[in-house]
Amino acid sequence: MSSTRTRFAVVAAAALALAAPLAIRTAADAATTHTAVKADSFTAAQVLAGVQANMTTANKVNTKPHINTMTRAQNVNVYQVASGVYAYSSGMAIDTDGSDPDPDPDHQGQTTWQDSNGKALGAHHVPFYVLGDDCWDRKSPCPHFFFKEHNIKGRQFALMFYKGKCIGSIFGDTQTANNQTTSDNDSRELGEASVKAAQLLGIPSSGTTGGVDNGVTVVMFSGPSWVVNGTNANLNANTQALVQKALDDLGASMGGTPPPPPPPGSTFEAETGTLSAGGTFDSNHLGFTGTGFANTANAVGAFVEIRVTAATAGTKTLSFRYSDGTTAARPATISVNGTSRGTLNFPTTANWDTWATASISVPLTAGTNTIRVTGTTAGGTANIDSVTIS
Ligand code: GCU
Ligand code: CA
Repeated sequence: MSSTRTRFAVVAAAALALAAPLAIRTAADAATTHTAVKADSFTAAQVLAGVQANMTTANKVNTKPHINTMTRAQNVNVYQVASGVYAYSSGMAIDTDGSDPDPDPDHQGQTTWQDSNGKALGAHHVPFYVLGDDCWDRKSPCPHFFFKEHNIKGRQFALMFYKGKCIGSIFGDTQTANNQTTSDNDSRELGEASVKAAQLLGIPSSGTTGGVDNGVTVVMFSGPSWVVNGTNANLNANTQALVQKALDDLGASMGGTPPPPPPPGSTFEAETGTLSAGGTFDSNHLGFTGTGFANTANAVGAFVEIRVTAATAGTKTLSFRYSDGTTAARPATISVNGTSRGTLNFPTTANWDTWATASISVPLTAGTNTIRVTGTTAGGTANIDSVTIS
């Protein structure tokens, strides 16, 4: 059983991913197909935007608000965003429970649900989320969202979104201690997840000092086909393997049209991609290929995301054509399909019209892959012209 402590709220950094609405495309666009690449797939940003658009009063499941586990504010609601799919946004308190030893004084050796071998889940290995373990109000139907009323069982799959990242997780533990007026343990709470879930989302994962107050969206997929099997050793991999299927199923059931795959080839222009807030696609410096280049905002965390196709899965070299006409390098984190693959330096070039190449080896899947270049310094990223796969 899970337990948490009250934490002093810091100003919430609740910025959610870009809200690009689900694209409506013409029949001609939708009919464009390319052999040798996998079927079109929805992006995490696109699906999150659709989820948020469906988090409306009309779709609210609970009649009394839940408690944000981190802030204690009674302002968390659960919405049915598609048939059998339920979403809420809250903070994230860190659950250290389960089979891993942990110095957190609240650590408990058990989790409510077990792996397929009957062992307590390991909070450091398995990304899991926490729900109330009973109906706090003792009423039926429950005025709060109560998992047993919604075809949700142990190890039920969910997508979790935070600041542009998207991971898979499973229902692993429950929040107990009903009706304790003096305690901050309360089964009406929503907003707790395991150490591993926090790590994958880039949230501080300490059981005593970690967590985040707001900005985490959890989207639960009900029904037996979304219960994830596996052991502490492979549950994380088995769960992440479902993420794209979940994005595609949910994107389609919300009525969206996936973006077409990038055209075949080995060079992908940055201007086909998307930018974090404040970025622009420009053409004011000479020597770019295609129709322009990406100019991200000058800020830590500013990014450009480019969808590419790989004919085969495997380790490939990504070569970025870029320009940095300042006097300081612009290092950037390179992530592939949401997983960071390291930091790549982008050293200065003579001026903004001079282009150079910076390369990194990364694993790609066959078909569409999403490459994100995220600036780690106050300048944001270098100007990015294209990425070539070899
Ligand atoms: C200049 C330059 C841009 C560049 C920016 C930066 O404004 O014209 O292309 O992106 O500096 O420092 O990032
Ligand atoms: Ca810039």
